[in-house]
This record gives sequence, C-alpha cells and structure tokens, in this order.
Amino acid sequence: NAITVLAPATVANVVCGFDVLGFALREPNDKMQLRLTAEPGVRIINDDAFGLPTEPTRNVAGAALLAMLRAAPEVAGVEVRIRKRIRPGSGIGSSAASAAGAVVGLNHLLGGRFSRAELVEFAMYGEEVASGVRHADNIAPAIYGGVTLIRATTPTPDVVPLDAPPLFVTVVHPQIEVKTADARRILRQQVPLRDAIRQWGNVGALVAGLLQHDYALIGRSLEDVIIEPVRSILIPGFQQVKEGSRAAGALGGGISGSGPSLFMLSQTEATAQAVAEVMRTTYVQLGLAHFIYQTTIN
Ligand code: HSE
Repeated sequence: NAITVLAPATVANVVCGFDVLGFALREPNDKMQLRLTAEPGVRIINDDAFGLPTEPTRNVAGAALLAMLRAAPEVAGVEVRIRKRIRPGSGIGSSAASAAGAVVGLNHLLGGRFSRAELVEFAMYGEEVASGVRHADNIAPAIYGGVTLIRATTPTPDVVPLDAPPLFVTVVHPQIEVKTADARRILRQQVPLRDAIRQWGNVGALVAGLLQHDYALIGRSLEDVIIEPVRSILIPGFQQVKEGSRAAGALGGGISGSGPSLFMLSQTEATAQAVAEVMRTTYVQLGLAHFIYQTTIN
C-alpha cells in the first residue's frame, strides 16, 4: 500500500492560451511517495531543503489530498513524502506537480476509482493554496501528460488532450522572483475586442497546428497580444531571449506560466541547443544566475 510517483514540471499558457493551454515536460520532475495510514488526515514530509509548509491546509499537496479524502470518507489517512526537484517559484508548475502527483498517487492506492477530470478538480484545491486561483493549465497536463486544452473549469473541468508532433523545449529560469498572484494582479481586466480577435485566432490556429503537425503554423500562432506585453516587463532579458531564439531558428515561445521562466519550442535538437546558448549568453551578460533545462514535451 505504497507508491512512488514522478510528477512532471509543466508549461502553462503556451504563449497565447492564458489559463487554457499547457504541456508537460519530460524533466524536471518531483518524486513523491505515498502510503495509506491508520492515523486519520494528511501527513506531509518534505524531503528537501525548500522549507515548504507541512501543515496540510497550507501545503498544495496537502490541500489537494484533503479535498480527495472528503470524497473518500472511508479512508482514514495518507502520508506523502515529497522530494521537490522542480524549484518552487520557477514558473514551470512546481505547485501543480505536488498537487497532481499527490492525487494521482492516492487514486492509485484507492484502486483508481476517480477519473482524471475528478483528479484535476481535487488538485485545483492545491493550486488555490499556491496562487489564490483555481486555474488548471498546469495541473491538467501534469495529470494527463502531453498538451492539454482546458475548455472550462466550471461546473467541472473539461480537459481536451491534444495530439502534438515531436517538440524540443528549452527553458531558462532566471533567479528572480515573480509571484503568480502579483503577476495576475497587474493584468488588465478588460480586453479590447481587436486584441481578443487576434488572440482567439492564435489559440485556434495553435491547436490546429499541433493536431496537423504543422510546425510553421505553430510558429505563427505563438503570439500573445494580451498578457505578454504586461508581464514581460517583470522579466529581464525577455526581449533578447525571444528575438535571439527566433533568429536561432526556434518556432517561438515566451513566458512559462506567470514566469519568471521563459520557454522556447524548436523542431530539432540542434536548434534547441542554439536556443540554450542564446539564453545562457543573455543571462551571463545580465549577470543573472539561471538554470537551463533542455527537454521535450512528455
Ligand atoms: N495561467 C496561469 C497564469 C499559470 O499565467 O497566471 C500560472 O502558473
């Protein structure tokens, strides 16, 4: 009655799909071990040095597990040991990975009784603890894998898994702090109609480009006229990374979730290497410590 889960990092938004698109990464991931306990409630053990809360209502995995236990009242308790390898605050779905891994693990211990859509719903309670908002664009790909579209989260999550061609993902995490809650507060609450038209044109075309394995269409659709102009100001090096990566042959990219990580998609591994070099050079010049991940959609 114990299980080990690898919960993946994820990229939310995918440039034009704010709160509705996301994909899972092959690396990095969190390692989580869960077991059922006779002792009631949720017990969290953090097996790392990030100093995250262990009080279940304040811990993303804990909040998600508590929501799940409410739906399985005959289960006494669960213990989860978390070894985070996705840095908290990096913008690649660190909190979502903990929430998603926890509910996937507990579901396995309970014989798989809940659907993936139900697991997304439980995990959203964890995301709420982290950012104050119950968005699912990191959680859904962490649970389903690959690329997902979240058509709606109410009344229940409506998740559409999308087929996609092979894509190389290069992520850079500059060592600055951007809190999701802050990065949401600065957004305009009204969108001019012409921007909305441009944005849903891009979202529709990006989905079509993924399904049709049309790399050129994917590249043209990686454009965000609503969120990126506001948030990119918070991230030093944004323009250099974006323009340099395009010049190096990347299809496109932008802010991962609410940042500070930036991601770029490439059709070949050689291009992804060149993009990594652009990222490295940019942050070395800016004197900013950073981590780079070379990976693929998983
Ligand atoms: N869609 C969310 C946002 C993701 O951009 O605020 C946060 O990780």
